[in-house]
Amino acid sequence: MKEKILELLYQHENNYLSGQEISRLLGISRTAVWKHVKILQQQGYCIETGHRRGYRLVRRQDLMLPGELRQELKTRWLGHSMVYMDTVSSTNLWAKENLMDLAHGTVVLAEEQTQGRGRLGKYWDSSKGDGIWMTLVLRPHLPMGEGAKITQLAAAAMHQALIRLTNLPVKIKWPNDLLVDDRKICGILTEMTGELTRIESLLVGIGVNVNQQSFTGEIQKTAVSLAQLTGKKVSRIKLLEVFLQEFEKMFDDFVENDQYESVLEIVRNNSSLLNQRINIFRGDDCLPATAIQVHEDGRLEVQYDDGRQELLSGGEVSIRR
Ligand code: BTN
Repeated sequence: MKEKILELLYQHENNYLSGQEISRLLGISRTAVWKHVKILQQQGYCIETGHRRGYRLVRRQDLMLPGELRQELKTRWLGHSMVYMDTVSSTNLWAKENLMDLAHGTVVLAEEQTQGRGRLGKYWDSSKGDGIWMTLVLRPHLPMGEGAKITQLAAAAMHQALIRLTNLPVKIKWPNDLLVDDRKICGILTEMTGELTRIESLLVGIGVNVNQQSFTGEIQKTAVSLAQLTGKKVSRIKLLEVFLQEFEKMFDDFVENDQYESVLEIVRNNSSLLNQRINIFRGDDCLPATAIQVHEDGRLEVQYDDGRQELLSGGEVSIRR
């Protein structure tokens, strides 16, 4: 019912709609309307109440409210179900704990994460209202081995969205980072559940540094935001909308039509690693090698200095300076 009221208010955007009219259209009492409006206001929607005039929705672009996103989102299935939280430990963690109730295509969003997690157990800084902190819940009919391809697909989709909106020279650092001038603007953490032969669920956690003005501690050397790079605030809603559309297109191409070529083209043509001398970190060891190619299964093909070649599935890799 809450969603229906929201929909009506969006339809009459910026104009008052009387409580009586809403209650007539939806067949509920005026008190019920008022109660739902209260909840929507608590969730962050800016609904003005005018004596005798009713309710008026004022759109706001500063929060990633599902109602705002839905106004522009042109996807067939991705993001049709959304979970929005003001604050959460981690969207990936939350999605894992609530997996049973989450349909394919659900997008879990938070304004702030108190325990944002990166790959290899690292901490992910997720300050309130500054970035996009989200998890895509996917249930593709794919064998386990195909999971790595989805991280590349997410990186390619985010690359396209960032280029379209900012025109910045964004590079993809296999397997899961997007960089500008060697500093990180986006990180991806894909987690899987399932059996050896079949993926049950894929949780694609994505963090984008959008409007931070500064970073503190160690990460100031390695992280950067779109606002710092462009000198102006960037709309998180717009970026999210373009990303979700790109992701859905690439995902459908891959899962339904077995077409993965466009993803490979993007990750290969914009790679920060290919043809570079790199260090591969394994435990306490640091192995020098050259990055040869992003393999068609999403793994990284490397050649060690002794001529041996290997396909890496993940891990820590850095360019040798
Ligand atoms: C990395 O670069 O190591 C991956 C970072 C992934 C961060 C995102 S933010 C949303 C989601 N929730 C998390 O706790 N982590 C991912």
